[in-house]
Amino acid sequence: MRRAKPSRTTGLTAMGVLLALWATTATAQNLHGALPTDQQLSRIDQLLPQRDVTQPPEGVDPVMFARFIPPDNQMTPARVALGKKLYFDTRLSADGTVACATCHDVSRGFTDQRPVSEGIRDQLGRRNAPTTMNTFVLQTLFLDGRAPSLEEQAKLPIINPIEMGQPDGKAVTAAIANDPDYQKHFLDAYGRQPNYEDVGRAIASFERTLVFLGSPFDRFLAGQQDAISPQAQEGWVLFNGKARCMSCHQLNPSNPIGSDNRFHNIGVAARHQDFEGLATKALAALRQNDGLKAIDELALSSDLSELGRFMVTKNRSDIGGFRTSQLRNIGVTAPYMHDGSMQTLWDVMDHYNKGGEANPYLDGGIEPLALSEDEINAVVALMFSMTDQRFADQNQAMFDKQRTTAETQRPFRDTALAMRQVLPFEQRVKEPPQRRGLDQPK
Ligand code: HEC
Ligand code: HEC
Repeated sequence: MRRAKPSRTTGLTAMGVLLALWATTATAQNLHGALPTDQQLSRIDQLLPQRDVTQPPEGVDPVMFARFIPPDNQMTPARVALGKKLYFDTRLSADGTVACATCHDVSRGFTDQRPVSEGIRDQLGRRNAPTTMNTFVLQTLFLDGRAPSLEEQAKLPIINPIEMGQPDGKAVTAAIANDPDYQKHFLDAYGRQPNYEDVGRAIASFERTLVFLGSPFDRFLAGQQDAISPQAQEGWVLFNGKARCMSCHQLNPSNPIGSDNRFHNIGVAARHQDFEGLATKALAALRQNDGLKAIDELALSSDLSELGRFMVTKNRSDIGGFRTSQLRNIGVTAPYMHDGSMQTLWDVMDHYNKGGEANPYLDGGIEPLALSEDEINAVVALMFSMTDQRFADQNQAMFDKQRTTAETQRPFRDTALAMRQVLPFEQRVKEPPQRRGLDQPK
């Protein structure tokens, strides 16, 4: 190249500039809707001021915090720093456009605020991205609980074909192993060269710093009566009583995020699936391969996704079961449910009020609630009070937006069912079989 004639060099340089320009625009267009990385990084530094990460975060029970940290991955500043670098690095993905922070974006409640996520080459998955906030306290990860720890969870999206698309763990290591900065970070954190297992460990350490539990609701629980509005206070009474939310979304000091860590069929998947046909297909697919990676792929890229926990246990009582969601920061993580099918918390309330969607595997705790509009508004107000103070402005903006939407759109409302004037038969919700358009499992 150096010996090329001047004219050719100029030509090549011009082409290089054009290519570089094209690459910059392509990257800008390929953010998949996420805030650019440098802006996300400055936001996270504002949200999480420097602190001693070897100690539990303020307001978190130390015994409970320690319980969720594996002995071989104790919290150190070097591990958190490495995990943070990895979390935001698009180089981990096969086409260089997707990082964890693409779908778990700091500016969008650590989600992507889309019904289902978009990965490399703009491929859409089947599930809604839950937040990475407060995941330190979950007993299993993923909506079907297929990963036993944050460490194991973090390794999967990187090698999922539609998310970050690396072929295997070796390729993940290769993507970063020659970078001297990473070599130094891995040595500092784990005393070893870059490797796939430590990628999972470091990201998990970083995620354990994403603790967002400082909401008006917490101040209310701590005794400050006026920390939440009288309407939200009424919502709290309903949450524990007539609306029955507390039977699954338990909130207590050892489990501050409002999930019982169990799996329930609340009827979300029942709206558009034939569970019997799907279960038969799933058992056939799982006979070929029932490893974690296989389940991960089926869950994100086939209709078998709707079987939820059944894919992990093959237990019929788990058909259509998903892990109870956390309710922290729920105001800033719309849309809702494993398929992102509900736009507003009013939709969620309409769903519960009519007793979910009838199906043979519906959880016994789901039944028509006969809540009035005022009562629905009260529970919604309560949920918006559970958002961390640091997102107060975003929470208010989302509340206003959802309220406006709900004024004209209540697609899940069925007052006759909610008030028990008619009975919920499954046939009412099922589409004719020819319209279901079931996918073939891979
Ligand atoms: C293409 C979008 C996408 C990317 C990239 C992505 N995720 Fe996710 N994430 C999701 C979706 C969708 C789910 C839910 C999947 C499921 O439950 O089956 C999820 C689930 C999770 C969960 C489980 C949360 C819970 O409540 O159980 C964690 C933690 C998480 N992701 C962290 C990460 C990390 C760390 C990375 C980077 C290594 C990452 N994600 C990359 C979309 C994405
Ligand atoms: C029988 C157990 C059960 C009861 C009772 C229950 N929930 Fe849930 N909740 C769940 C499960 C399971 C999910 C996840 C379902 C899914 O993703 O398909 C969920 C999801 C949600 C979500 C969506 C979270 C998200 O990020 O997508 C909200 C909001 C919610 N519940 C609020 C409530 C409220 C309010 C009540 C009371 C009116 C209530 N739940 C009653 C089990 C329950």
